Amino acid sequence: MSVHLWLRAESKPGEERAPVTPAGVRRLLDAGVRITVEQSSTRVFKDDEYASAGATMVPNGAWPSAPNDAVILGIKELPTSDTPLAHRHVYFAHAFKEQKGWRDLLRRFKDGGGTLLDLEYLKRDDGRRVAAFGYWAGYVGAAAGVLAVAHLRTGSAEPMAGLRPWPGRAQLIAVCQAALGAGRAPSTIVLGAKGRSGSGAVALLQAVGAPVTSWDLEETRAGGPFDAILAHELFVNAVLVQGPLQPFVTRAQIVNAGLARRLAVIADVSCDPHSPHNPVPLYDDTTTMEHPTVRAIGGRGDVASLDVVAIDHLPSLLPRESSEDFAEQLLPHLLELAQGSPVWRGAEQVYRDALARL
Ligand SMILES: NC(=O)c1ccc[n+]([C@@H]2O[C@H](COP(=O)([O-])OP(=O)(O)OC[C@H]3O[C@@H](n4cnc5c(N)ncnc54)[C@H](O)[C@@H]3O)[C@@H](O)[C@H]2O)c1
Repeated sequence: MSVHLWLRAESKPGEERAPVTPAGVRRLLDAGVRITVEQSSTRVFKDDEYASAGATMVPNGAWPSAPNDAVILGIKELPTSDTPLAHRHVYFAHAFKEQKGWRDLLRRFKDGGGTLLDLEYLKRDDGRRVAAFGYWAGYVGAAAGVLAVAHLRTGSAEPMAGLRPWPGRAQLIAVCQAALGAGRAPSTIVLGAKGRSGSGAVALLQAVGAPVTSWDLEETRAGGPFDAILAHELFVNAVLVQGPLQPFVTRAQIVNAGLARRLAVIADVSCDPHSPHNPVPLYDDTTTMEHPTVRAIGGRGDVASLDVVAIDHLPSLLPRESSEDFAEQLLPHLLELAQGSPVWRGAEQVYRDALARL
């Protein structure tokens, strides 16, 4: 039995990523998969690249009228609506941890007889995700941290300006180096440095010439808060928190450190301000591309202030590299969609369990 994959256009503003590249389309077609691609003027890969690869092109947003057997593939949320959903959908729905709106979304699937196969829940036997954007989240998060340090050094009373997606990593490195100018690269510490995001952060920091202290589980075994973090100008948090843990830094610790503190910016890639286990409990909400930083300590123009970058969709800022990497990880599993696999069956089970909780 062959599969019909339907790549929908993203409707979330600023989302340029795609889960399948034009080269991936060619490989899927060679394997007998049917591919339909919705036109999109914002996707990082252009319509004519998909058309040249052999995809059937259809108008933007046409997926609700796709044949019933089509599997609708995307990255982020579907447009808000209450229409029942009849297809199998593969994307990041952010619903299974009972996030805002989860009931309404799952009810749409239930009413329409569709299925939600969430990309976040495609996992191997060992629980590791088969495809993730983490490396590029760390890479971009560290860059945003460097830019925030450079901005603070100017002494400006204004917050750092908004960020826009970069065409590629070379431009991102050049922007960081230009922002630092003749100034030295910040001393940096990365927690979770052995993970996907952490290794991306370390790679960016090394590329801009910043000295990096790399910590993972072993170095934090004693439990926080850690004064060593305060001795670095930039702290990148890239830890995957899976349960209670002592915070890595606290407000009281930072205030008590006084002038002994060098820490000026935290790039919180893990970015979980609403979790009771947030190890960076210095801010209340995520930040955005438009307003990348939140002032955690100090006032306007205060040289001893501390800013936090907490953007929860960092890979969107480097859409080409992050899409190519993610799509390459996902492709083998798209090739297995027709016959099914433990990975797809596991994701379907997560969906069935969530439906049962409705
Ligand atoms: N902001 C974004 O846009 C964005 C995008 C993708 C992922 N993330 C988040 O980044 C975080 C990391 O994701 P990942 O894919 O890199 O995970 P990962 O599992 O690849 O890496 C996590 C690392 O954290 C380490 N770790 C866990 N507990 C630790 C502790 N107490 N002290 C020190 N190190 C510890 C692990 O050993 C591992 O090396 C997750 O919270 C994820 O949701 C954010």
